[in-house]
Amino acid sequence: ACRSYEFIEVSEPRPGVGLVKLNRPKALNALCSPLIDELNTALRAFQASPTVAAVVLTGSERAFAAGADIKEMAPLTFSEAYTKSFIESWSDLTTALKKPLIAAVAGHALGGGCELALMADILYCTANANFGQPEIKLGVIPGAGGTQRLTRAVGKARAMDLILTGRSFSGEDAERWGVAAKVFPDYEALLEGALSTAETIAGYSKVAVQAAKEAVNKSQDLALRDGVEYERRVFHSLFGTNDQKIGMKAFAEKKKPEWTHS
Ligand code: HXC
Repeated sequence: ACRSYEFIEVSEPRPGVGLVKLNRPKALNALCSPLIDELNTALRAFQASPTVAAVVLTGSERAFAAGADIKEMAPLTFSEAYTKSFIESWSDLTTALKKPLIAAVAGHALGGGCELALMADILYCTANANFGQPEIKLGVIPGAGGTQRLTRAVGKARAMDLILTGRSFSGEDAERWGVAAKVFPDYEALLEGALSTAETIAGYSKVAVQAAKEAVNKSQDLALRDGVEYERRVFHSLFGTNDQKIGMKAFAEKKKPEWTHS
């Protein structure tokens, strides 16, 4: 999984944990198409990796990502954008990985950068992170899920206010509004927090973790009754795994479970 890339850096800093660092500092990690291709490749490699069980996605202290690449987009015509399905490959990021993805956001997370962060399963940020959907200022609208995911995350009133004005919100706001699960004082603490959560998750049964992620994600698409029914079916299916027997037996015996991930 750790081949070399031009716009990202990939590593396995802890047992069970993959790390992708967006690394295009001169453009504040602006998300040009080749960068998104590399990110898709890296996430697919982590999905296939037997040693990685959870992944952290981060940028730098200054920028998670300042958006899609404005200079790349500027000359696009409608027919080019439409026929090349511009931005569609961003959606692959949400399906490439069945393992949990934690975004660790410091600095700017604007436009496509904010949307990328919202695609993660868990979002952690620094208190002074700078989130926003400023596309309106460029004569367009969010194009990678911002009008949908941000609205689900913060509610319609706040999403309208943010998307129609293009104004930013802080990491503290993000935590208060439920966009971020945790907020940290600085980048170092943020990365440590994200890696440590990833390590915790990597210590559980991979089967149960994948099922939990899948079931929570269903809540975004299904009506409540269908979602609860879906959850119950998946819950039942886990009684067919070795790890259910191992986990519950270990509890009774006051031992640490030795997962087989099967
Ligand atoms: C291309 C970008 C960029 C971007 C920054 N840069 N953001 N290049 N696309 N989105 C480049 C700058 O041109 C500059 O390059 C270098 O990064 C440093 O940026 P500065 O502006 O000099 O830094 P600073 O003054 O600190 O301001 C930071 C900033 C500002 C507030 C984040 O860069 C900014 O407003 N960027 C654009 C944010 C934005 O509008 N994002 C939404 C994009 S639209 P040079 O060569 O001059 O040094 C979008 C649509 C999504 O994301 C739709 C689907 C994905």
